[in-house]
Amino acid sequence: ISIVVLISGSGSNLQAIIDATQSGSIPARIDAVICNKEDAFGLTRAANAGLVTKVISHKDYDSREHFDQALQEIIDQFSPDLLVLAGFMRILTPEFVKHYSGRMLNIHPSLLPKYRGLNTHQRAIDAGEAEHGVTVHFVTEELDGGPNVLQARVPISEGETAESLAGKVLVQEHQIYPRAIKWFAQGRLKMEANQAIFDHKTL
Ligand code: GRF
Repeated sequence: ISIVVLISGSGSNLQAIIDATQSGSIPARIDAVICNKEDAFGLTRAANAGLVTKVISHKDYDSREHFDQALQEIIDQFSPDLLVLAGFMRILTPEFVKHYSGRMLNIHPSLLPKYRGLNTHQRAIDAGEAEHGVTVHFVTEELDGGPNVLQARVPISEGETAESLAGKVLVQEHQIYPRAIKWFAQGRLKMEANQAIFDHKTL
């Protein structure tokens, strides 16, 4: 299948996905990496892997709607079967989300439905949680609210900082995102009626 990845930053999740496609673990090809920040390190990772990159800055558009329309036009040049949000730090319009319904995944650094939105690591520490983690989910119109596909948990230790916790969570992100994408690429995972459906015969 064909994948397009959207990023805004360091792209360490992108790197894990690149590695898994190159090793053959994910039966898919990444047709493009699209970024809304021209200086994002993820663009260097993509270029190093020989991937097509595109930069589209939201600052060049007068509204969220116009940015999303332009973004959608670029994405659809590649006709992807799956759109992967990997640290793409933009809230998407309902029209955009609808267009990719059932074929857009996101990774969010919390145990959803806990801690939607930003600063998840600090919020989990401040709340005195004993554990935290990360969720891969299908994207629906509800922000960080689509059906969960996979979660991984990490303990919150004594003296944990947001930074140390983010590091522990990131290690898990790099495990579960390629796994979820692999399932989708193999046709063992889909979204139907706002639910994630797994083919349990093969999982
Ligand atoms: C990750 O923590 C991801 O869960 C969040 O943004 C971060 C992206 O990291 N949505 P990277 O760019 O993949 O290194």
